[in-house]
Amino acid sequence: MTQKHFHDVLIIGSGAAGLTAALHIPEQYSVALISKGELTDGSTWWAQGGIAAVLDSEDSVDKHVKDTLIAGAGLCHEDAVRFTVENSRQAIEWLIEEGVRFTKEEHSDTYHLTQEGGHTHRRIIHSADATGKAVHSTLIDAVKHKKNVDILSNHIAVDLITQADEDSPKYRCTGAYIYDRTADSVSLFQAKVVILATGGASKVYLYTSNPDGCSGDGIAMAWRAGCRIANMEFNQFHPTCLYHPTAKTFLLTEALRGEGAILKLPSGERFMDQFHELAELAPRDVVARAIDHEMKRLGCDCVYLDISHKPAEFINSHFPTVKAECLKYGIDITRQPIPVVPAAHYTCGGVMVNQFGQTDLLNLYAIGESSFTGLHGANRMASNSLLECLVYGRSAALKIIETIDSIKSPEYQPEWDESRVTDSDEDVIISHNWDELRRFMWDYVGIVRTGKRLERANHRIKLLQNEISEYYSNYKVSNDLIELRNLAVVAQLIIRSAMARKESRGLHYSLDFPNLKPFARDTVLVPINFAAQDVVVGRS
Ligand code: FAD
Ligand code: SIN
Repeated sequence: MTQKHFHDVLIIGSGAAGLTAALHIPEQYSVALISKGELTDGSTWWAQGGIAAVLDSEDSVDKHVKDTLIAGAGLCHEDAVRFTVENSRQAIEWLIEEGVRFTKEEHSDTYHLTQEGGHTHRRIIHSADATGKAVHSTLIDAVKHKKNVDILSNHIAVDLITQADEDSPKYRCTGAYIYDRTADSVSLFQAKVVILATGGASKVYLYTSNPDGCSGDGIAMAWRAGCRIANMEFNQFHPTCLYHPTAKTFLLTEALRGEGAILKLPSGERFMDQFHELAELAPRDVVARAIDHEMKRLGCDCVYLDISHKPAEFINSHFPTVKAECLKYGIDITRQPIPVVPAAHYTCGGVMVNQFGQTDLLNLYAIGESSFTGLHGANRMASNSLLECLVYGRSAALKIIETIDSIKSPEYQPEWDESRVTDSDEDVIISHNWDELRRFMWDYVGIVRTGKRLERANHRIKLLQNEISEYYSNYKVSNDLIELRNLAVVAQLIIRSAMARKESRGLHYSLDFPNLKPFARDTVLVPINFAAQDVVVGRS
């Protein structure tokens, strides 16, 4: 018998987005907050640079909006950008009230604001170079004090449950099947409202700044459940990750460049000034492509990021995490340049939502990196993503509070059926497919694309999907199998979206179509089981 649980709200994901939503749901509503590993899993913990917000009196909402629109290369939805930026001050004030300690100017009560690519103003509030840790640990502490929130770590959502809505021609989401990794069993979690806060999908690439687990589960689950997914071709590559044979990818924050670090070729020559007037602080797509270009031109394994011309005390106080991590590999950043390469970093596309995080399915919300709000366009501006988690986490919670009392409790209780599956005796199929998928995504669907490479990737993904589906139908679920199945869906969505875009824009660069098309359009993929009769959001 499948174990059953009921909560008013089921939140899948415990990063900045999921925690913000959980903390804004009042105590009279029961909440299940689930995380596939520990609560600290996901990207939030690892965020370095900070959070973009209009906090300085010389700065303005209009300037932040304008910078975001420019970085987004014509595809940002201006209403979403304005909504996010207008709420940025409130979001930061809330974090400060919750107890986050941001870095202040020396001998002053004013917060220090740093600079990153694409921003024409200093507007990144931060906690040295470990902003994610400061925000995440504070929010985790706060949620542990909320009596209405059941926290379940090591629980991984497998699929959403949907049913036809009695009162409308739409489908509604009534819960999810959740695999308890410790008990090795699947339970049914029913809820009036489900929130996907599962983060991004950059693990689909061989080299990534993301921690394990960023396998796009929410995007894949929403797609299977009948939601539209947009702009998946825009996967952002962070220009500067540590290049070292024994290092698991480690990010070197863009704030280093914001504070004066210079990108250099192995010869020591600066090169970014030849690619963009903003040089090292050009938008990320430009910097990552320039590095890729120079590495291919010179046949070198990496380029170098150099901040050693700055005073050691400044580096020590602003970048203690980066300094300590590099020292583990024998690199003293106060004295020598750091070897760097680009790596997959952020999923700009995702589950299509409106201003409240509502998806195409009734009672299903998506927030944070798993969602597509229209904020990022074709290239996310640095440090706008944590902001998006905070703003949409709150606005989703406010909409839920407004509507939840009129939502009927779900009655439909489909059992999880394991009668026709057995324990896997060939886990090698999972590990092999996992490696193969991530490698061809890197080689064929990376920073620079061509039609031929995309065709190849499309061919490979179809074969892999058949193999994975067959495996999934025959064997019991496990964490790796769930993630692989989702990675394959996300890879397919990225490839299809990239094939559909016959131009180069922002993060999507094709040698076959090197120019911009005159009309900017989102790439909206519609699933065959798309059930929404009226269009909730987006343009196409
Ligand atoms: P995450 O924080 O990734 O959390 C996802 C959660 O979902 C996790 O709890 C995970 O366990 C859970 N989950 C996933 N799938 C399932 C499932 N199937 N079942 C159950 N649980 C599941 N952005 C900025 O704005 N500023 C920065 O300085 C910055 N620096 C960054 C540095 C690094 C190294 C990285 C990787 C990213 C950085 N980003 C930064 C991006 C930003 O951190 C992320 O976009 C943001 O943290 C995403 O938050 P989230 O809540 O959407 O997802
Ligand atoms: C960084 O610190 O460079 C990451 C910032 C971001 O991804 O927004």
